[in-house]
Amino acid sequence: IDELLSEGVTGKRVFVRADLNVPLDGTTITDDGRIRAVVPTVKALADAGARVIVASHLGRPKGAPDPAFSLAPAAARLGELLGEGTGVAFAEDTVGTAAEATVSGLSDGQVAVIENLRFNAGETSKDDTERAAFADRLAGLADVYVGDGFGAVHRKHASVYDLPKKLPHYAGYLIATEVGVLKKLTDDVQRPYVVALGGAKVSDKLAVIDQLLGKADRLLIGGGMAYTFLKAQGHEVGISLLQEDQIPTVKEYMERAEKNGVELVLPVDVLVASEFPDLKTKAPANPATVAADAIPADQEGLDIGPETRKLYASKLADAATVFWNGPMGVFEHPDYAEGTKAVAQALLDSPGFTVVGGGDSAAAVRTLGFDENAFGHISTGGGASLEYLEGKTLPGLAALED
Ligand code: 3PG
Repeated sequence: IDELLSEGVTGKRVFVRADLNVPLDGTTITDDGRIRAVVPTVKALADAGARVIVASHLGRPKGAPDPAFSLAPAAARLGELLGEGTGVAFAEDTVGTAAEATVSGLSDGQVAVIENLRFNAGETSKDDTERAAFADRLAGLADVYVGDGFGAVHRKHASVYDLPKKLPHYAGYLIATEVGVLKKLTDDVQRPYVVALGGAKVSDKLAVIDQLLGKADRLLIGGGMAYTFLKAQGHEVGISLLQEDQIPTVKEYMERAEKNGVELVLPVDVLVASEFPDLKTKAPANPATVAADAIPADQEGLDIGPETRKLYASKLADAATVFWNGPMGVFEHPDYAEGTKAVAQALLDSPGFTVVGGGDSAAAVRTLGFDENAFGHISTGGGASLEYLEGKTLPGLAALED
């Protein structure tokens, strides 16, 4: 983007593909991290006199307009963050008459947000021609493309992959920062390199574990995915989350960890209850603490226990590099937030370089009241950062490098 700025952007229509896919409670944004992350790029362009068109997806609407997934709240928040001088216009469609009118009404230095890209089926289509046709219409709105939606670079979608091929294209500040940080974990990692993985589904993490078994020194496992590991070790897990079909793969990974000298650390105790907590009322759940190899048949594990918290903190204490992705338990309920808090705190206490993978763990760090600036880096990409670490070619990065 510095190259673009030095060429001069006054009067140019610059399309910024951002990731404004923020969590919403109705129309209230519960974590605006992703919006704040794109401000430097939008501000630099607006200050340099560009006519900035910010575009993003939000949620997973079904290829047609759906008010529940409107970007209007995100546009309003972007306007607040940019400050008084830069009003943000909002177009109620993506490539229709509203978007055209809004964009042609922009003066130099002004910013517009267009409606959710996924309100058009062409955005996510698997059909190259359909995607290209939508990208053509988006290209008609702009002169230049800036990719800055790091959270979506793993998606082969029209605005991420096809559109940059149709316009002069540049990477924004956020993408440059994110890639710079993740490169440190893949190309030149300082050891010990400790990775903490949590979250509900082990299937989402298999590919990254596969890579990490040749890279990391220690892997700490928590969250719902831990129960498939415990089961693979031969323990009963009651009614905890379990992906039976993944047990053979998990067993193979445990063997490979041992062979490669990677320390794979599993919970030694867990918090259990007979039912999932009410996340709306947050009524006390009164969980019991049990050993990880003694989960009662009618109970479900919902967080790592106090001994595991201490164990994981000690395994993180001497790390030179830490990557953490996925909560350790149902942190949205106060009775099950301690495991996730303990890992976040251990990252803060670590003298090493700490990276929080996006998605739930980034939201957890902020909603649990930690100072986000105290971490080495909080990624805005959950799936994107995992796929980067898996070594995959990410369509949105490939298109920019092209
Ligand atoms: C994310 O939340 O990881 C990104 O915004 C991508 O969203 P998606 O998983 O719906 O493509």
